[in-house]
Amino acid sequence: MNKPLTILGIESSCDDTAAAVVRGNDVLASVVYGQTSLHADFGGVVPEIAARAHAEKLDHCIEEALTKAGLAFTDLDGIAVTAGPGLIGGVLSGVMCAKGLSAATGLPLIGVNHLAGHALTPRLTDQLTYPYLMLLVSGGHCQFLIVHAHDQFTRIGGTIDDAPGEAFDKTARLLGLPQPGGPSVEKAAETGDAKRFSLPRPLLNQAGCDMSFSGLKTAILRARDSVVAEKGGLTSQDQADLSASFQAAVTDVLIEKTRRALATYLQLDPVKPAFAIAGGVAANQRIRQGLTALCAGLDTDFIAPPLRLCTDNAAMIAYAGIERMAAGEADDLTLSARPRWPLDQRSAPMLGSGKKGAKA
Ligand code: KG4
Ligand code: ZN
Repeated sequence: MNKPLTILGIESSCDDTAAAVVRGNDVLASVVYGQTSLHADFGGVVPEIAARAHAEKLDHCIEEALTKAGLAFTDLDGIAVTAGPGLIGGVLSGVMCAKGLSAATGLPLIGVNHLAGHALTPRLTDQLTYPYLMLLVSGGHCQFLIVHAHDQFTRIGGTIDDAPGEAFDKTARLLGLPQPGGPSVEKAAETGDAKRFSLPRPLLNQAGCDMSFSGLKTAILRARDSVVAEKGGLTSQDQADLSASFQAAVTDVLIEKTRRALATYLQLDPVKPAFAIAGGVAANQRIRQGLTALCAGLDTDFIAPPLRLCTDNAAMIAYAGIERMAAGEADDLTLSARPRWPLDQRSAPMLGSGKKGAKA
């Protein structure tokens, strides 16, 4: 049997500086330096601040990953780096760092699409066989992908405006709940009545797997304003009921659209049908439960990798690099950083992808 490849992964496409060492399917080390506090006063990620912080932190992060893995550069087979899509300054910091390391060590350089990193994560964690269906659902992205091979993806639908995580964050802001909004809305919803407010289920009556979440944000704003107009403020029960109603609407849309995406995927007659989820919103228990039940009814495995591998990290970049290298692929020092890099080059660009910024 071939010796498994050992690869250093580097990720710097948004506001997480990350390095990891992966050997085959084993994550030997995964280090993530967040930048949340640096951007906290600005209401979003500031590209220049992010790029500078990546440039300052990357070498420490890489050193820490190698130390944790107990390895030196001479133990590695290659260096994989996110080459896009993302905030160009951040992507450039990572690519330049990887090029420097590759030139100095002679190790092969492998450019990785950040979205491919997310999409291949269930192969790292659960060794899924192709083809499988993937829902990438985060603060900046929402799309269904059929993953046919490490470099072959079909996007069969996605949001035409906002991502669900963004809608959770906005809802929390409107209700006076802390950020990030997903966990706080989920917590508040535990004691809420999901039927008290009747919110829309956008695009549910339209065929296909496309989704829309911006109207839901407006609907929650109106519902909140009507309560405030009536009572002069929100009680914690109002917050709970609004949160539960919002969460139920998002869940209904995601479940129904997943049902349709699964129908398209199952037409391929996969030997071992599997549906995997990634991105921060995958942490939501209600959404997970709905998807678990849906898959169970369709004899399809439901895979939700551990959250630390669902959100931005470098282990997924290292693993995608392993798949590329195993297929005999590599880049050279002409590798360029790409702000936009759709996984499925054939589908029309989505209105919503990257609207909030480049975080994928
Ligand atoms: O993948 P991720 O860490 O990075 C970004 O895309 O920014 O996802 C973060 C997003 C945030 O919008 C956050 O509110 C959402 O995922 N999120 C959740 C939950 N935990 C995090 N949304 C719903 N329910 C949750 N439990
Ligand atoms: Zn991402």
